[in-house]
Amino acid sequence: MKMFLWSYTDLFWHCPLSIMWSLVFLCAQKVVSDHASTCRALEFIPKELYPVLFKASFLGRKTLVLQDLVKRWPFPVLSLQKLLQSCKHCDCLPIKEKSSKLCVQAVILGVLAYLHQVMAGEDRKQQLRVLNMVGLQDDNLEQDPESMSLWSQTVTLSKACVDISQRHSEGANPSSKRRKGARSTLAATLAPGCQVYVEVHMDLFVNSTSSTILREALQVSSSSPLRLRCRDFRAEELSIRSTLGLLELLSPTSIRQVDLRFNNLGLPGLNVLLPFLTKFTSLLSLKLPYNNVDVRRLSVEMEASLQNFASQLGKLQSLKELNLGSSRLSGRLRQLLGGLQKPLESLELAFCYLLPSDLTFLSQSLHASSLKKLDLSGNNLCEPLLQPFQLLLKEAAGSLLHLDIMECKLMDSHLGALLPMLSCCTHLRYLGIFCNPISTRGLKTLLQNTLALPELRLIIYPYPVDCYSESLPWPTSSSSFLDSSFDQEKLSRVHAELQQLLAQAQRTDVTWSTDMYRHKTLDYLSL
Ligand SMILES: *[C@@H]1O[C@H](CO)[C@@H](O)[C@H](O)[C@H]1NC(C)=O
Repeated sequence: MKMFLWSYTDLFWHCPLSIMWSLVFLCAQKVVSDHASTCRALEFIPKELYPVLFKASFLGRKTLVLQDLVKRWPFPVLSLQKLLQSCKHCDCLPIKEKSSKLCVQAVILGVLAYLHQVMAGEDRKQQLRVLNMVGLQDDNLEQDPESMSLWSQTVTLSKACVDISQRHSEGANPSSKRRKGARSTLAATLAPGCQVYVEVHMDLFVNSTSSTILREALQVSSSSPLRLRCRDFRAEELSIRSTLGLLELLSPTSIRQVDLRFNNLGLPGLNVLLPFLTKFTSLLSLKLPYNNVDVRRLSVEMEASLQNFASQLGKLQSLKELNLGSSRLSGRLRQLLGGLQKPLESLELAFCYLLPSDLTFLSQSLHASSLKKLDLSGNNLCEPLLQPFQLLLKEAAGSLLHLDIMECKLMDSHLGALLPMLSCCTHLRYLGIFCNPISTRGLKTLLQNTLALPELRLIIYPYPVDCYSESLPWPTSSSSFLDSSFDQEKLSRVHAELQQLLAQAQRTDVTWSTDMYRHKTLDYLSL
């Protein structure tokens, strides 16, 4: 029992002021602090304590203990996100801080050890069927080198899946050189498509470096002791052929999001892929930014291609989110989205060269009043787009939570014209207006007019034009912020004034920031 005793200094050492830990959690930390004794004790520890021990060892990076806990996991499901979220025992840090690479690897090793044990015929009445790894990464934020990226998680699990599948089939079909006999009876009981397996629920992120191993894994997955089940699939810089090869192997009902970016597919390429996506009956989100789509001045042939693309989109029955960022869509939005039967709730059309007719169509479409997230950054929203944009905002006011209008060339006067609509967006949580030529005075007016929005939490505002020396034109890119013409001190003063206004209005719950990378923005799928 010695290991359950500790001194007061121990207690304080383990308990920084900012974190509330229960006595149970403190005990758990103590228990997992020594691998050898934990190992001996595990057999006698009631299963109700496994979750808190898991959390304590994950946060304390006790990888050996973690591996043992997973190997003996007494429940059918092990969900990392659920186990690591704040609970009554430990009100801990955001998940990103915790998804240490070593710990994630230890969990995977624990599952493999469990499977090896089962394959070796050691029946210990274990339960584990599902390892849920989704939701560990946060792609909005910069990658912490200590944590495991989605890309390397994909590679690690693919390798594990291929490896254990090989061992399993070697066990099931001993090499032909050996004489048949007792072994073949064993082989019959270990038929391929094994009875005991663990399904890994995960998001996949693949590029050309990792596509071969992922393809191999997906090919054997359905008969392997370790099965990969993908929720969100993301491919970057991958050829049509490779992308197609992977899409074909995914289990169609589990896919929630497909994100194919920087793949240079063009409309013809996308038309090859989309028919495969129509099999994904739960597909809520399709992201196709940076795919070199340009629908201006089309040849007759390409005109048919556009029509085909639109009708394929219309076949995605569950689609709620669409991203066509950086496609040149001028004047064709009606044609593109006209085939959709159900309203979109998230639409991202950044840098799409939209025309007034596109926004007019959108404001009159079934989508307008359902939009929770809208990104029109990089489109010039001044005249003549301002008026249709006003109409769109008016329609979307009841539903909009997230509005991005960065780099839209909006000046004080334009912003002024949008304020009546913006102040009707009663559910708005986020507004991105970075990189618009707005003055300090314009920002203050915006602040005053958004104070009454109860759910507003974050505004990413531009460096005000009056922070730049007057002789120069207003810089169009954020890099010119470092320019000598920029008055950093003035920006600090403006920031302080804005903070003061927020404090006076008792709205310090709203963050006003010029740093668009530091803050987590809203992901439609996690709403
Ligand atoms: C694929 O992504 C990984 C991880 O980000 C990177 O190291 C690798 O260079 C990428 N491969 C290519 C071909 O870009």
